[in-house]
Amino acid sequence: MKPLLILTERERESIFDALATISSNPYLEYQDFAASVTDLIASRRVPRPFLVALERVRSDRRDGASVVHVLRNCPIDRDLPDLGNDDPMARKHELKKTFIGEALLELCAQLTGTPLLAYARNRGDFFTDVVAIDRFSGTLTGYSDSELYYHNDRTAHEVRADYIALLGLRCPGKDLIYTGFIDGRDLLEECAASTLSVLREPYFITPFDVYSRDKNNSLTVSKRHPILENDHSFRYLDTSTTVAPGSPERAKDALLDMKNALTRVTRTRHRILEGDLLLLANQDGLHSREKVEVVDPTQVRSRWLLKTYAFRDEAARASHREKWLDGVPGRVAD
Ligand SMILES: [Fe+2]
Repeated sequence: MKPLLILTERERESIFDALATISSNPYLEYQDFAASVTDLIASRRVPRPFLVALERVRSDRRDGASVVHVLRNCPIDRDLPDLGNDDPMARKHELKKTFIGEALLELCAQLTGTPLLAYARNRGDFFTDVVAIDRFSGTLTGYSDSELYYHNDRTAHEVRADYIALLGLRCPGKDLIYTGFIDGRDLLEECAASTLSVLREPYFITPFDVYSRDKNNSLTVSKRHPILENDHSFRYLDTSTTVAPGSPERAKDALLDMKNALTRVTRTRHRILEGDLLLLANQDGLHSREKVEVVDPTQVRSRWLLKTYAFRDEAARASHREKWLDGVPGRVAD
């Protein structure tokens, strides 16, 4: 898809230099790190085109104009360690000594007014990695090297992000891997009215993903939930979300109608390049990963996106305040 903004080399370097002044470690002292980014914004060192673009993201989301955006040629760390595919998170903690990508993601979160969300299973980190992990190979999790059917992240969990940001750190040049996005409003339009009313009932369940089960084996399946919430939030993981035992026949009919709609509906596809920042709605839409053409499977396994989860605003974050871990706002247990 067409980027909302392509930073010039000078703008990219200017943001890089500003972010490089932050000395705190986002993994050890997140709140200090975030405060440094707040100070940076106040110091007016962020170039105006970048501020204007993020303000546009914010207004597009508010007005309903768009919930998916790309910013290109963003600054990223110059020295990126090799994470391997055994335990990339541990290697990142050990070897990544600069935090330009993390600071950029925090900057975007603050400029769009969407505070970040962290899960205990990711060590409570507010910045996580989309990197293939060997033991999840072939499974339906972002931590695999597989294609991913249309879904939202953490479908089965109680606390779910409103927005996701993905920053391309290492993106093999020859391989065509696309992130697909379906806007919830378009999916709504494709479904019959009778389907929508049934999708709003708690007739459905979603098994927890393999990564969550691996981290916490008490997690097996979600509570019964509606698929359709709010105006056009779809809580759904294709091929996994299903009708709960004992639900009426019309629940299965509605699910089938929605699956047909999912096949017909308009979608956006974006190939994340290094320095691309892809911002998308996690609940008011569904996303996917498609491996369109893989030239070098070994190279693909080195692909590395830095990722954040975010709440739509301060109020959405505050609604979960009883779940904070260690008193850190936005860090939750599940
Ligand atoms: Fe995802």
